[in-house]
Amino acid sequence: MTAVLDLRALSVDLPLGGFLTRARLPILCDVSLSVGRGESVALVGESGSGKTTLARAVMGLTPISGGSVFFEGQRVDGDLARLRRNAAMMFQDATASLSPRLTVGYLVTEPFRIHGLPLPDPAATARDLLARVGLPPAIARRYPHELSGGQARRVGVARALALDPRLVVADEPTAGLDVSVQAEVLNLMHDLRAGMGLAYLVITHNLALVRHVADRVVVLYLGRVVEEGPTARIFAAPAHPYTASLIAAEPKPDPRRRRADLAIRGEVPSVLRRPAGCEFHTRCPLVRDLCRSTPPDLVPVGDGRQARCHFADQRQDKQGERHAVDHR
Ligand SMILES: Nc1ncnc2c1ncn2[C@@H]1O[C@H](COP(=O)(O)OP(=O)(O)O)[C@@H](O)[C@H]1O
Ligand code: SF4
Ligand SMILES: [Mg+2]
Repeated sequence: MTAVLDLRALSVDLPLGGFLTRARLPILCDVSLSVGRGESVALVGESGSGKTTLARAVMGLTPISGGSVFFEGQRVDGDLARLRRNAAMMFQDATASLSPRLTVGYLVTEPFRIHGLPLPDPAATARDLLARVGLPPAIARRYPHELSGGQARRVGVARALALDPRLVVADEPTAGLDVSVQAEVLNLMHDLRAGMGLAYLVITHNLALVRHVADRVVVLYLGRVVEEGPTARIFAAPAHPYTASLIAAEPKPDPRRRRADLAIRGEVPSVLRRPAGCEFHTRCPLVRDLCRSTPPDLVPVGDGRQARCHFADQRQDKQGERHAVDHR
């Protein structure tokens, strides 16, 4: 079946800035991923890994420098109207993404106006949309600064749903919310997916959220996919040491279950100074000589998974022993 969204070797370079240089920085490098109909795919990685850039590139808000974006089988080639009519974005900062001088009622129905679609009874449409995200009709008269964080997020969802999209790209949908409100937003997204057959590309660094909502996970490091596969398999036995580190760093109710040997070290390197060889080698607990000179390819490692590590296969063979062997 045709994927709703298909990214093929997508690359994004951004200008380095400054008067004297026209140099460009590679932010996303050859990213391929697909989201099937009704499927939920999580894009994870530390801050600065290129997640927001990818979301913006998909929606045509940041120009791409290589590769292509296919929406429902058709290449999005400068013509963004069809994509934007059928895919919606939930922005990282829900309150800031809503124009402060417009009422909630206007904001949730604005997509009809933007696309020149008929809107015979704006008040009734606003009421319906707000009801779908569990907000009372009176909210329609409020302004964004009068909303709580959870309400602003729900308004963002209502606005995203206005045109019955087939894909929602959600950038950090629960960031900055209290845990109880996070759960509400997650349940809302879950119910909408079941009810409307929505596909999601969910961008997050919250692994608890990934377990909760995603069928598949794509892990980004310095703008490159380092692992990709079904959520349950990835959490049970990560093939890439970076994924293992992210999972090991997740807060656990029982601190004895933390794996100090996999804890991630140091800071993400700057995209200005990408490490040679495997770009993760400066932080990898399993680094060997080969890693410092030779970049690994993204290759299948079984179970419908791919990983970008010279030794992922060997590690998968040794499951059971887990990653306890230090290869150095
Ligand atoms: N407009 C921009 N100009 C130059 N660099 C940018 C710009 N936006 C983002 N970057 C850089 O691109 C990288 C990825 O950023 P971003 O996509 O925001 O990551 P994430 O959402 O994963 O935190 C970072 O190194 C960031 O500094
Ligand atoms: S290739 Fe080497 S440095 Fe890179 S993730 Fe694999 S073991 Fe670590
Ligand atoms: Mg971001």
